[in-house]
Amino acid sequence: MKPTVLSAVQPTEGLHLGNYLGAIRNWIAYQEDHDCLFFVVDLHAITVRQDPKVLRSNIERAVATYLACGLDPRKSTLFAQSMVPEILELSWVLTCHSSMGELARMTQFKDKSSKQGENIPTGLFVYPVLMAADILAFRTSLVPVGDDQKQHVELTRDLAERMNNAYGKDLFIVPKPMLGTTGRRVFNLLEPENKMSKSDPTGLGVVFLSDDDKTIEKKFKRAVTDSGTSINPEALSQGLKNLIEIQAAIQNTSLETLASRYAGKQYGVLKVETAQVVIEHLRPIRDKTDALLQDRAALHQILREGAEKARERASAQVKEVYKRIGFVGRS
Ligand code: TRP
Repeated sequence: MKPTVLSAVQPTEGLHLGNYLGAIRNWIAYQEDHDCLFFVVDLHAITVRQDPKVLRSNIERAVATYLACGLDPRKSTLFAQSMVPEILELSWVLTCHSSMGELARMTQFKDKSSKQGENIPTGLFVYPVLMAADILAFRTSLVPVGDDQKQHVELTRDLAERMNNAYGKDLFIVPKPMLGTTGRRVFNLLEPENKMSKSDPTGLGVVFLSDDDKTIEKKFKRAVTDSGTSINPEALSQGLKNLIEIQAAIQNTSLETLASRYAGKQYGVLKVETAQVVIEHLRPIRDKTDALLQDRAALHQILREGAEKARERASAQVKEVYKRIGFVGRS
């Protein structure tokens, strides 16, 4: 039996180079030798208010992007979270086994809620329990996530162990986080001390997978480098390191190898060449995404087929949970 790998991203705003090099590209590799489930967490997205039209189009674009990047629905199970109601059934059971104290300790909740003023949406508070349900519904053993999600996977492990202790050891598989083993960390081009993330309000330091060639070029030309003029591989600033790392990741080479090739060259050369490498790599992905978005019915069909496979697995897990906690009625 191949180990089960599961991961998901929020379909809010665009996917960017950081998502691609840090996550999606690894998923494509995992699908060769793992049992994979990848999905779009639309239920998580509504923890903050969404415009329905924008949300729908973001979901479709995210799915089209996954496919364009090489996610193969014949190898992996691909779906939208809201299409698998069993996740919500499990989420309620897990909610009843979690405590307000442990959820209040989640750093992401603390960050996000501090930006919400007086009215903190309840969904933000229970967000990590829904994520635990995502993971536990499919008997997942490995969860590829970024550092910022590690605490949520730890909570998932606690909930799984707590329920295993209460209702029988084999009820849930206790999953492990898979932290940046092969993924590359990509930083914001204008603030290279911060991760490239969609929370950058201007988007100027973020390369979106939907950006056109000209936009990508412009963003790299403005990238923050260093105060000198030529590259010294022994003393790379964060900004220079980030550019070299991006290029190295795409070319599947190491930072060191590429840095020594740039020794003594002007910063401008690195910026232009990195932009070129990124543009050439992203162009076919963008074109394919756009082509897939032309046939939304076909995209929806792929999701429905994936969701059907996902439901079969999740409903077996929920049935077992319901039975062990003493519910009657589900056979
Ligand atoms: N919370 C994750 C994020 O914001 C997304 C997510 C939801 C997820 N459910 C998941 C990731 C299950 C891994 C596994 O990035």
